Amino acid sequence: MQTMAIIGAQWGDEGKGKITDYFSRYCDYVVRFQGGNNAGHTIVVDGKKTVLHLIPSGILHKSCHSVIGHGVVLDPEIFKKEIKTLQENGLQVTHANLSVSLHCNIITRYHQILDQKRDSNTSAQKIGTTGRGIGPAYEDRCSRRGVKLIDLFDIKILENKLIRMMQEKEVLFKSLYQVDFPSIKEEAQRLYDLGQFIFPYAQDTFSLLQKALSENKRILYEGAQGILLDIDYGTYPYVTSSNTSVGGIYTGAGLPGGKLDEAIGIFKAYTTRVGEGPFPTELNDAIGKFIQTEGHEFGATTGRTRRVGWLDIPLLRYAVQASNLSSIALTKIDVLKKVETLKVCYAYKYEGKEIHQTFPGIDLAKVTPLYKEFPGFTEVFTQGHNLSENLQSYIEFIEKESGIPVKVIAYGPEREQIHFLKNFTLDT
Ligand code: IMP
Repeated sequence: MQTMAIIGAQWGDEGKGKITDYFSRYCDYVVRFQGGNNAGHTIVVDGKKTVLHLIPSGILHKSCHSVIGHGVVLDPEIFKKEIKTLQENGLQVTHANLSVSLHCNIITRYHQILDQKRDSNTSAQKIGTTGRGIGPAYEDRCSRRGVKLIDLFDIKILENKLIRMMQEKEVLFKSLYQVDFPSIKEEAQRLYDLGQFIFPYAQDTFSLLQKALSENKRILYEGAQGILLDIDYGTYPYVTSSNTSVGGIYTGAGLPGGKLDEAIGIFKAYTTRVGEGPFPTELNDAIGKFIQTEGHEFGATTGRTRRVGWLDIPLLRYAVQASNLSSIALTKIDVLKKVETLKVCYAYKYEGKEIHQTFPGIDLAKVTPLYKEFPGFTEVFTQGHNLSENLQSYIEFIEKESGIPVKVIAYGPEREQIHFLKNFTLDT
């Protein structure tokens, strides 16, 4: 296997960081291709927790080169901060094992202010964003007014680009939101100084990955957020502003050779969602509270409480198709072990019909979930143990309904709390 993708297949927070970290040890490159520091990937090694928002999870492995592709929106201050934190924790982080594309769009202070103002509690359409400036930075990319990393290395070019970018926004800031914002000169200087720090890491990552393929290197693409937050495939408008599905790899980093050998969809054994938006299987009862507490369902980026619900097969089927997933890693399975009766939503009642798969544009606020019940499982999880009959039937149901195998289960936050149900042949 030469190319592999780890894709969040629900509304984010599925435990991608842990699975990426696991496979990184076998890979030469780990590549982020979309999103920014709205992500929060938590990895626990020997009881020590590392939360990465921007830098790929591969950074924890010495032999692995971490790459931030041009599809990522880069907050240069966070980039610097994460490098410093990793270095203070004794990790080697240099331009020899970390590269960032010269063509990433930059998140400026203006983007952060705009995001927070737009998504405030009094906003007419609150999305519940992370407030990190992600949406506004992507907007400027699409309107062709964005600032790219390469622009940070020349203060004159940078100033001119910021002037162009801010021309319309100045009116918006002053008249609509009535906020002061940093002067262009100050912002240009701040970004320029950060650019000087980033310079050694900046390069043409597209060519880097092309070369990697020609040298038969293994490349792992690390998704952020989840398919249901994809700007095109997700539950619009309650989505993030990038292509979180496999399609984002092609546009956000480049897939040399044009094909993925394995696309692993990461599903939690139940469902969670942060921020606003419909959630058919949401649990607003004691079981929901229990799963939330047991699964420590609080956001790694914003600390917000995650909404919790049962596993949702119509969404799962859709995610498999939207991203051509080839297998499933089922995470946080241990969280469910004290729940006496488990439920899985196998279909919806929607506009008088029973439907088994969601599709773009469906109004999830108007569906009624139909449930199948499963007896709970009580296993003590260890590596390679034989699964109980109850857990096996839960997993087999997911395989049958999704049409793809569950190859991995993860049963705790530690790096080694992972169990393979099918062989992965990384050596071919
Ligand atoms: P934004 O990406 O900050 O614009 O937020 C848009 C939506 O995506 C909000 O509902 C966020 O809560 C959600 N979101 C963004 N990043 C993540 C993530 O890493 N995990 C879960 N939800 C996320």
